[in-house]
Amino acid sequence: MSETAQQQGGRLGGKIALVTGGSRGIGAAVARAFAREGASVVIASRKQDGLDATAAEINADYPGRVHPKACHVGRVGQITELIDWIEAELGPVDVLVNNAGTNPHFGPMLTATEGMWNKTFDINLRGAFELTREVVQRLQKAGRPGSIINMTSVLGQGAAPLQGVYGMTKAALISMTQTLSVELGPANIRVNAIAPGLIATRFSKILIETPDILERFTSRTALGRHGEPPEIAGAAVFLASDESSYVTGQTFSIDGGYTIT
Ligand SMILES: NC(=O)c1ccc[n+]([C@@H]2O[C@H](COP(=O)([O-])OP(=O)(O)OC[C@H]3O[C@@H](n4cnc5c(N)ncnc54)[C@H](OP(=O)(O)O)[C@@H]3O)[C@@H](O)[C@H]2O)c1
Repeated sequence: MSETAQQQGGRLGGKIALVTGGSRGIGAAVARAFAREGASVVIASRKQDGLDATAAEINADYPGRVHPKACHVGRVGQITELIDWIEAELGPVDVLVNNAGTNPHFGPMLTATEGMWNKTFDINLRGAFELTREVVQRLQKAGRPGSIINMTSVLGQGAAPLQGVYGMTKAALISMTQTLSVELGPANIRVNAIAPGLIATRFSKILIETPDILERFTSRTALGRHGEPPEIAGAAVFLASDESSYVTGQTFSIDGGYTIT
């Protein structure tokens, strides 16, 4: 732990973090872990109600650490407004977690409609790209280091039957992570990705509640079960912190061993 982080309390003391999709599921677990480690955390998603409830819950344990702010990551204007707001209220963003995600289509890839394609790419990929651009431009202007963490998926690391368009966006996020890590390395802005396996959230409810789909995942998962959101948060804390100062361009599969079988 750096001296500054130690002085300011926790592994992320003094850092300002933005977690998109922070109102529930994996994003909320990451926000809670960041708050526990001393960061000031902005959580963003479309619905202010959900954000307010999650912020209140985390702030009950870590007072004043979490700040809720609505933003649709598919709308570039709202992204700029969000980053402006964070700078004015808290200061420049040090850590960006591109976690907001969607999957409107479940079925053979070629049956996805144009609308489904556009929504999946707009939220999962273009949103992450535009947020990264907005945060990085400001970091570079100020000559500050930073950490970008992209929430991809094991479905971006291989075939994604019945979730193919979603899988394409997650594979592209890994490519974006690798290229940006090279381009931004000289500025000491690190870019990494986390690839969760099946994690119990609202997003995956239908998969977990469908016995043959759950069995398909768990039977090829070394630990024989699905994961829970807090099991993703530890890696995010590591990648956000100075403990990972020599780590960039990597994708960490946190999947109970799904990808090694
Ligand atoms: N759960 C899994 O098994 C799993 C596995 C691999 C990867 N992932 C990835 O992990 C990330 C988080 O998923 P989760 O499972 O935690 O899902 P979740 O519980 O359904 O949470 C999704 C979050 O994204 C927000 N969101 C959705 N559309 C948005 C938009 N247009 N703009 C801003 N925020 C938006 C939602 O809030 P609002 O409704 O308020 O917008 C919510 O906060 C996603 O990128 C997902 O692809 C999940």
